[in-house]
Amino acid sequence: MLNFVYDNKTELIFGKGTQHEVGQRLKVFNKKVLLHYGGGSIKRTGLYNDVVKSLKDAHVDYVELGGVQPNPVLTKVHEGIELCRKEDVGIILAVGGGSVIDSAKAIALGFGYDGDVWDFYLSKEEPTHTPLPVATILTIPAAGSESSPNTVISNEETRRKLGYGSGKLRPVFSIINPELFCTLPHHQMANGISDMMSHIFERYFTRTLHTDLSDSLCEATLRIIMKNARILNNNLYDYDAWAEIAFCGNIAHNNLLGIGREQDWACHAMEHEMSAIYHVAHGAGLSVITPAWMKYVAPKHREMFLQFAVNVMGIDGSYRSGDTLIREAILRLTNFYKELGLPVTMEELGITAQYFSRMAEQATNVDGTIGSLEKLTMEDVKQIYKLACRS
Ligand code: NZQ
Ligand code: ZN
Repeated sequence: MLNFVYDNKTELIFGKGTQHEVGQRLKVFNKKVLLHYGGGSIKRTGLYNDVVKSLKDAHVDYVELGGVQPNPVLTKVHEGIELCRKEDVGIILAVGGGSVIDSAKAIALGFGYDGDVWDFYLSKEEPTHTPLPVATILTIPAAGSESSPNTVISNEETRRKLGYGSGKLRPVFSIINPELFCTLPHHQMANGISDMMSHIFERYFTRTLHTDLSDSLCEATLRIIMKNARILNNNLYDYDAWAEIAFCGNIAHNNLLGIGREQDWACHAMEHEMSAIYHVAHGAGLSVITPAWMKYVAPKHREMFLQFAVNVMGIDGSYRSGDTLIREAILRLTNFYKELGLPVTMEELGITAQYFSRMAEQATNVDGTIGSLEKLTMEDVKQIYKLACRS
């Protein structure tokens, strides 16, 4: 196990009806709030009215900025920074999924910075200033941004989608009410499942030895996600299944499962290039690229993939050869994605080989390689994109 420091300051307020507490919880900050949200789902579901009532009842002053799009963009972030400065905002409330929360974090980061906030996404440097605090009401369990230190933003001009992380960006509190997820369309549920599973895979597949506890936590969380995803696949209104999924989705990316181990993140790097150019949903991109990555790297890391086959995919290891077992595990994962209606080939996403070279070049252009289980060069990444053309 590697040395680690684990610090997760986000207070979680979990359960039925908890969105009604938001006004009282923000009141203690005694600051003007930016109410930040997406393309309108919160108005259709009635959540917007609940939030506004709670703010008004608690006499919390606020301004609002909606219209964050999935795969949030830099121009909206700039608009938010300007509004916060003009209105002397002191805290941002993001009501939405990963896109709204990431946009809020970017605004929070850019607020006290003289240059362009995009500088941080390029340089990855720690800010010397203190960003505005961010609080959230989560409406889709998926990205884990409700307690992660990360934000992912797309720059429309350069067509780059880049992530940035700093402990200073972890939300101060996040309200997670699984009742709010019952309005999600089926495909968004599936995208979320794919994303949270990937957050675990990125941590689970590691070269680090002696990680028994976090291995087992990863395996248990993956099994619980698959079990409850199958329940939601038949009934999107099952509160208890959503509660399990929301808890798993949070743990999948609050880094509890990743501490003390080398992490990979190659699939996320490859997927971000797909989203940047083709605007595909992040979870849908991951269900295409993950099995291809597994097929490519598994032969060199058989022990890790055998453990995955037996402990996660539930394959009886006693009578098959190792290679058959690994192939079957990847096939079962692919079939699980299909069961949820997720795409498993580039073609299903409308992606052709046209930009594979450019995508591979951009994915690897910071350090020359991505990933840690297996360091992937630009050529490797191109091969994986090609592998993802068929299931
Ligand atoms: O925009 P509205 O109208 O609100 O609709 C949203 C959006 O279209 C809709 N939705 C959300 N909650 C709903 C709902 N519809 C009905 N009922 C509800 N309760 O769902 C759509 C998708 O929302 P979005 O926020 O884009 O989804 P998600 O949470 O999957 O976030 C994806 C973004 O997060 C980034 C991804 O790259 C992507 O840009 N990620 C952020 C991470 C982080 N900050 O730690 C880590 C992840 O790996 C990921 O990269
Ligand atoms: Zn993700």
